[in-house]
Amino acid sequence: MVVTTGITVNKAEQSKLHDFSFEHLPFGKYFTDHMLEADYENGEWKNVEIKPYQPLLLSPSLAALHYGQAIFEGIKAYRDKEGHAYIFRPQDNYKRFNISAERMAMPPVPEEIFMEGMKQLVALDNNWIPNKEDHSLYIRPFMFATDEMIGVRPSESYKFLIILSPTGPYYAEPMRIYVEEKYVRAAPGGIGFAKAAGNYGAVLYPSALAKQKGYDQVLWTDAVEHKYVQEIGTMNVVFIIGNKAITPDLASGTILAGVTRDSVLTLLKEAGFTVEERPISIDEIIDAYKAGTLREVFGTGTAATISPLKELRYKDFIMSFDTDQWEISPMIKNWLTDIREGRREDKYGWMVKVG
Ligand SMILES: Cc1ncc(COP(=O)(O)O)c(C=O)c1O
Repeated sequence: MVVTTGITVNKAEQSKLHDFSFEHLPFGKYFTDHMLEADYENGEWKNVEIKPYQPLLLSPSLAALHYGQAIFEGIKAYRDKEGHAYIFRPQDNYKRFNISAERMAMPPVPEEIFMEGMKQLVALDNNWIPNKEDHSLYIRPFMFATDEMIGVRPSESYKFLIILSPTGPYYAEPMRIYVEEKYVRAAPGGIGFAKAAGNYGAVLYPSALAKQKGYDQVLWTDAVEHKYVQEIGTMNVVFIIGNKAITPDLASGTILAGVTRDSVLTLLKEAGFTVEERPISIDEIIDAYKAGTLREVFGTGTAATISPLKELRYKDFIMSFDTDQWEISPMIKNWLTDIREGRREDKYGWMVKVG
């Protein structure tokens, strides 16, 4: 047992790597040798431990299972051509995690546990970072309520964990998206801006209906008028209209402030596009499509980086795109991948070295 900066490290006796293949890596299916676990009790964080990846023993009365105090994050680690490991913008996810925690009446996780713990865990399992283009190590920090009592009130105890999953490309194919007008993901005053587990449970049914209609996901619209677009599945959405990159703003608190969104907007600005963060209506999108100025539409997110749309359907109106002809989003995607994999300068200081 090794104790460093308050984190106890218990290493696995054997790595699972010796009979593991990096050939087919469906998202979130395989996990590395270790995980981090910490407990919050009586107002303080304790038992911070990196240990072999293993099941948890939980009570059936566990508060998180009944009333949904559960939040998470999604971050990626990459390897550069010299083999060094880097994590992409983890500080931004750390901040967002504690914003989610506050909204869900959960305690903040200290930086020493979230950031230091993550770095130590990734350093320990760094052989699990795939050495292939478009591949990475997905980092999943999460926290949930652990009071063993059925009662609607904030839990007094919590668990924070980090697990790691080697991963390949997510949505490799251009997507067909359906503009949702009946169901709602988030309303002003709700929890749309938080990465709370309940947000994801709530969208499974409408997403499944969209799939039955032959679509990959839905594009959410505002809860009041179903007129302004919000986001797609686990992605923010960007429209390239003429020389402008337009994306919904964060003011109404109904969409997640994506780290990829911010990175893509930064690169689009550097590439000379005018970036507008503001409400964007479906009518504006259709008008631009009809006028021939809607050049590209894509989703941005940690899992997929950038996913182009080949079809966007609103009621019976279908907007189709020949994504093979697109140049802007592939250019931004390659640029971001090159920064992450160390082939281009990291001038914004996004890559945090591990170890
Ligand atoms: C609802 C939602 N919107 C947007 C995003 C994109 O955010 P990020 O770029 O930080 O991954 C995600 C994924 O994390 C998400 O779950």
